[in-house]
Amino acid sequence: MNKDSQNVINLNLKNEEKNLNFSDFQKQNIKFDISKLQEAYKQIIQTKKFDDGGGISHFGAICLTRIPGDPDSVKGHKARGLYWTKPDKTGKEVSRDVKLDESAYTEFIPDYENTYFKEVFDVLSSKYKLGRVRILLKEPRSTLSWHRDPEPRLHIPIISNPGCLMVIENVAKHMPADGSVWITNNTKYHNAFNGGEENRIHLVACVLDYKFN
Ligand SMILES: [Fe+2]
Repeated sequence: MNKDSQNVINLNLKNEEKNLNFSDFQKQNIKFDISKLQEAYKQIIQTKKFDDGGGISHFGAICLTRIPGDPDSVKGHKARGLYWTKPDKTGKEVSRDVKLDESAYTEFIPDYENTYFKEVFDVLSSKYKLGRVRILLKEPRSTLSWHRDPEPRLHIPIISNPGCLMVIENVAKHMPADGSVWITNNTKYHNAFNGGEENRIHLVACVLDYKFN
């Protein structure tokens, strides 16, 4: 036994742990124009501030869809929505926030109709049954809680950096901001962090008719 192999700690990894399985990150067969996405984001933030979900640290959302005629449906805890988390050493799961009727979020907010996001929304909603569609901010050096959501989520990274990773169970993946569309299995425990020094911006939509095996 040489010196190097003596220093290797045997983790007794099971076979499935030796081969990472990325099937909870599914790249879709659609691509949008990344320059137009970034331009649309710049347009929106000229007039609109991120909602902090009712005072939640490291959370920021701008809703692009709402319940028709209901401006309150995009504010505070409704910008966040129901999830489950394991907040302490007991490992006991608790629910946070309130259940929303995602299928009621059918109206694209008129203020943003002259942006590229309207075109993106029209394409996506012709292919998937969508719930809320939001622009989500992840600030530098920040993370979410370890949590699971009621349904899968569609991601279009708009601004990202190599230190932005989403972790689902024990598999981590960077989704580059190149116009690609991903659906991630948020019904499993997951997190997202931004280890870079500039904001991470994703378009994130709840997907109500997508099944993972
Ligand atoms: Fe989530």
